[in-house]
Amino acid sequence: MSQNDIINRRVIQWFPGHMTRTLRVMEKEIKNVDCVLQILDARIPLSSLNPEIERITAGKPHLYVLNKADLADPDITRQWLAYFKSAGAGCLAMDSKQRGKATAVKAPIERELSQLMERRRRRGMVGATIRVMVVGIPNVGKSTFINSFAGTTRAKAADKPGVTRGKQWITVDDFELMDMPGVLWKKFDSLETASNLAFIGSIKDDILDIEELACGLLSSVRGIYPQQLLARYKLDESALVLPPYDLLQAIGAKRGMLVSGGEVDTERAAKMLVGEFRASKWGRLSLERPPQRTQQEVPDDEEDEQ
Ligand code: G4P
Repeated sequence: MSQNDIINRRVIQWFPGHMTRTLRVMEKEIKNVDCVLQILDARIPLSSLNPEIERITAGKPHLYVLNKADLADPDITRQWLAYFKSAGAGCLAMDSKQRGKATAVKAPIERELSQLMERRRRRGMVGATIRVMVVGIPNVGKSTFINSFAGTTRAKAADKPGVTRGKQWITVDDFELMDMPGVLWKKFDSLETASNLAFIGSIKDDILDIEELACGLLSSVRGIYPQQLLARYKLDESALVLPPYDLLQAIGAKRGMLVSGGEVDTERAAKMLVGEFRASKWGRLSLERPPQRTQQEVPDDEEDEQ
């Protein structure tokens, strides 16, 4: 059984009932909204794009928000914005931790809804409410985004049992946002997608092996940002060719995470590594690059510009 099969099995066993219920609510409510705002993580835009949400919301005007852009590599975020644009999808980068910043979505939403806005203008309905469903995977920053949009702190829609349940409507000026709890999907196409979701904390850590997670993170990051890793843990270049578990041990040793007998406490080192990555201690990193488009996919007008 491959590692991806193992993760898929664990996710299927864990998949919380409230996520299944949320998907059902989305299916029911989608007809009541004008537009869908899908929040993605700017560090992993494709891995954080939920195919179930895409299926349910297909056919509605859509805007993608690359949230946590302050944690991502700005050059790569620019490439992602161009990628979404070239696919004809509205997209903007966002740091939702800044209060009020999220109101920057208003104009792009109105652009996505230009036909509806025009119809409303003709009927003298200027200022009529625009209903937006805000969706995304857990921990992508939906609540933070909505708080930034509203300019106040609102209750969090439940990703977890025990917190306010189900959908909530939040009214800000002409906008009504429907705040949906975060949802995942049950079967990941690749180990890369599953790992990326685990790295950013969207899959519950309890169902994962923290050392495997840390080794996966090291493998991924050392290929694309070796210098950040070396600088953070004061390693020399030779560390980059170590197998991931040996690299984890080397980092644990550097940090003095030893148990009696002088062995490295790899579990503690793994927790520290994952925690530091999530707290952005390694600097601004993007774990995914936009796929290269083939020549056939490049629209004619872009070809003319080259
Ligand atoms: P969710 O509703 O989608 O589950 O996500 P939520 O808003 O709860 O955000 C999850 C974590 O991500 C929070 O951190 C939040 O502060 C952080 N976050 C959200 N948006 C951004 C952003 O644009 N940039 C950065 N840097 N962080 C963001 P936390 O550590 O879990 O909580 P807190 O102590 O910050 O409140």
